[in-house]
Amino acid sequence: MPVTHATDYIIAPGGVLHGRIRVPGDKSISHRAVMLGAIANGQTRIRGFLQGEDTLATMAAFRAMGIAIEHNGEDVTIHGAGLYGLKPPAHPLDLKNSGTSARLLSGLLAGQKFDCEIIGDDSLMKRPMRRVVDPLKKMNADISCSEQGTLPIKIRGRRRLRGIDYTLPVVSAQLKSCLLLAGLYAEGKTCVHETVATRDHTERMLEHFGCVLDKKNNTLCISGGNELKASEIIVPADISSAAFFMIGACIAEGSDITLENVGINPARDGVIRILLSMGANITLNNQRMLSGEPVADVRLRASPLHGIDIPAERVPGAIDEFPAIMIAAAAANGKTVLRGATELRVKESDRIAAIAEGLQAIGIPVVTHDDGMEVTGGRIQGGTVNSHADHRIAMAFAMAGLKSETPIRVEDCTNVNTSFPGFIELAQSAGLNIRQVVPGAG
Ligand code: S3P
Repeated sequence: MPVTHATDYIIAPGGVLHGRIRVPGDKSISHRAVMLGAIANGQTRIRGFLQGEDTLATMAAFRAMGIAIEHNGEDVTIHGAGLYGLKPPAHPLDLKNSGTSARLLSGLLAGQKFDCEIIGDDSLMKRPMRRVVDPLKKMNADISCSEQGTLPIKIRGRRRLRGIDYTLPVVSAQLKSCLLLAGLYAEGKTCVHETVATRDHTERMLEHFGCVLDKKNNTLCISGGNELKASEIIVPADISSAAFFMIGACIAEGSDITLENVGINPARDGVIRILLSMGANITLNNQRMLSGEPVADVRLRASPLHGIDIPAERVPGAIDEFPAIMIAAAAANGKTVLRGATELRVKESDRIAAIAEGLQAIGIPVVTHDDGMEVTGGRIQGGTVNSHADHRIAMAFAMAGLKSETPIRVEDCTNVNTSFPGFIELAQSAGLNIRQVVPGAG
């Protein structure tokens, strides 16, 4: 049952993770499947769609722009209207907690023939948007954000976009994807140069929809007017959701769990590589391709972990997994050092601050830096952790219960539904002693 009211988690110490489980569909890929399906010609069928609040917000935005969508659990059919088939929405598009929706849609909407406005919840209204607004202006979009560089974004349509040559000033797949989507509506070529490779789901899916991209080294070019042809998308299980169970299985003695059908895109598999260098026991079985994305069944068995210096080049490929990875660091022998991760400050919460505060609350020493932290592994004593309404902080600290001496209470966990509906039930079935309570109750 989806939780719609405030909720805390209480995790009793101990437990072992075991069995074969399947976590919900990939959030990044589910968003993109709806977006590309909506502007393609024909019917796109999506299987394994993530029914999280973030991806449902994307779906609602396209319904508000006149797209017919049939939604039956994880099975979704989008009746694509072509590049210019969207209709003006009657109200501002409320993208709730979802940064991916806000940033990718800014690019897609900048070239439409109508005006619109993008808003979100308290957390999204604070996140940086100039990174998309500035280059879209260079493309001749009529777009603005607040003086603080945040939502609301206001777009006046009917502008003829022009292709640009742009080097990404921040390492961000959302920004890259925003510009590629705007490039579909621009005159000439839009070329994006990445100094560090980020997740390439947009590129893979554009190609899956028959769009021609020009890829050389770290540069990607797209030509305006590239029509998309509807397709079938099978969404892999989300490696970012699987990560919580990976960490849990590493730290809970006796664990042996298989996570089925997990996306292992090389730009997203940083968590596996980092855990392997910490001494984890991981095997990738049944490797195959699904709709242009590599997947595998990932088996984890508990093993002692040791702290490491996380190489800076590993950061983008694990950017969403650091709340979970830092729980592994807390249970490891020795010190783990994370640097070069300033972007963590502007996620759904300031994750450097939220992780550090949470670890200290359960007895683990942490030193923070502007761009990272140092965590010294030790005894996880238990205590109360504020998730700061951040889904990934909530689920990471829930897993810490497996290694804790006394119960852990995690406050403000409602937003787990943004990315992982059914987390509690799946975690219980795998062996975590977790229950949810209303705030204030024991
Ligand atoms: C995402 C890209 C990343 C990631 C986010 C999803 C995407 O954000 O943190 O959860 O789907 O493109 P940035 O582009 O801000 O790094």
